[in-house]
Amino acid sequence: MKRIIDVVLKTGKMHFAECKTQMLVVGHFSDAKRLDVVNRELDSRLGGAIEQIIKLGDFKGKEGTIAVVYGNEQIGAERVLLVGLGEQKKATIDIIRKAAALAANKAVGMKVKTMAFALHRAFGAKFDSGLLAQAIAEGAHYGSFRYDEYVTSEEDGRTDSLTVEVIDNDTPKAKRLESGLSRGIIIGKAQSYARTVASRPGNVINPPALAEEVNKLARGTSGLSCTVLDDKQMAKLGMGGILAVGSGSKTPPRFIVVRYTPKGKIGKLPTVALIGKAITFDSGGISIKPAQNMEQMKLDKSGGIAVLATVKAAAELKLPINLYAIVPAAENMPSGTSYRPGDIVTTYSGKTVEIQNTDAEGRMILCDALHYAVKQNCDVIIDIATLTGSCMVALGTYMAGLMGNDEQLSRNIEKAAQISGEKVWRLPCGDEYAEEMKSKIADLKNTGSKWGGACTAAAFLRQFASEKKWAHLDIAGVDYIEKPTGSSTEGASAFGVRLLTTYLINLVDKKGKK
Ligand code: BES
Ligand code: MN
Ligand code: ZN
Repeated sequence: MKRIIDVVLKTGKMHFAECKTQMLVVGHFSDAKRLDVVNRELDSRLGGAIEQIIKLGDFKGKEGTIAVVYGNEQIGAERVLLVGLGEQKKATIDIIRKAAALAANKAVGMKVKTMAFALHRAFGAKFDSGLLAQAIAEGAHYGSFRYDEYVTSEEDGRTDSLTVEVIDNDTPKAKRLESGLSRGIIIGKAQSYARTVASRPGNVINPPALAEEVNKLARGTSGLSCTVLDDKQMAKLGMGGILAVGSGSKTPPRFIVVRYTPKGKIGKLPTVALIGKAITFDSGGISIKPAQNMEQMKLDKSGGIAVLATVKAAAELKLPINLYAIVPAAENMPSGTSYRPGDIVTTYSGKTVEIQNTDAEGRMILCDALHYAVKQNCDVIIDIATLTGSCMVALGTYMAGLMGNDEQLSRNIEKAAQISGEKVWRLPCGDEYAEEMKSKIADLKNTGSKWGGACTAAAFLRQFASEKKWAHLDIAGVDYIEKPTGSSTEGASAFGVRLLTTYLINLVDKKGKK
């Protein structure tokens, strides 16, 4: 099986014009009156080629656009890639991240093996250079990612590795670059790990196989330990929700718990539980889904994988915080042993649920995981799940739905969204929605009315979070990139890895500042 592209990032202290590389990447704002210092110097060494391309209107600096200028003996680079950064006053860290991804995607497409980013001076003034380097590292991983583990015959192959330098000629800055870059490398690698595992199909990743993968992850990462409950152990505990969902499949469910325990003191930080839905394939079960696009339901494990990649990143970043990653894993299949519409299921919490639709299975595994987190006495619980088509109808494919029971927690997640570029939008999940989830013959039923499905699903989950601070991310619309964009190939997005890791980093940093 082919390995994913190995991205090697480093900082370099050198003059950008002297940097020996196959591709030197420089930014340009669309509203710049003249070239910035970096580009001006390059332009003069290239005999005005950059000015020319802009004057001709072939490159306007619009976000998402690029132009290539070829090098000469005056500069070290074989080619210069101009990347559009849009309007300077609208510049954000996510624009840099996307620009880096666009360049890295282009580099892999052109079979370039070495590239270097020269930091734009105007950016350096607006953002901390550590944050810039982090965003570039994340972007470089994101843009160069290809999921082709199972492709054995390719027309003209691809590179195995990409070496990326972030260069500056100013020493104190280079130091800050270094620390930001190492954060970005960890997060970038965690994203690629998530995209790889999430992309693996249902015949490769079933619940026991996922548990095995997680065991491997925990063994290889200092600070992590992994516990897996099999179906017999779950039955003993009374986890009726996940057992019902997994009952139709030949491959039994697994309840996967990864703990991260930091070394040393942690201060007064909350214990955080991250819960991720991992349906390794969602056929709908007896309430079977239509055939069209059903193959995409291999990605119904994306929330669970995002949580695993986040705990991996948190451990590698050595964040001083106690963390649980709780991943209920099951395959939702129709068979003679499946759970059925009409069944009444007793969940781990003791609450009973009348099944109206076996395709509303996510909430049935999450409710047991929520109760598990409550029993472990976690202070903050965040769940992330490809939960409802309704969320996709409401928000499209650009942002995740955010619901919860605690204003401060929701605000912190919104702040993390702003920095990470993984956007969220608040949706309600109050009592009127919970009302729809009441059953006449059990405590709850697993579907609401035709309307507001993302909200009723969240209102169902809310009741299992007890009095704990809880937030819910519905990522049904954002787990999957349907068509290739300039900055990414199509497929699994790893949505949530940057968002959740940033949330944790902020928790720790805020504590440090007090
Ligand atoms: N995994 C799906 C939700 C989903 C749909 C994710 C489309 C990504 C893209 C979930 O298990 C599901 O089937 N939800 C149902 C709930 C309904 C039966 C109440 C839905 O949204 O249709
Ligand atoms: Mn479903
Ligand atoms: Zn599902």
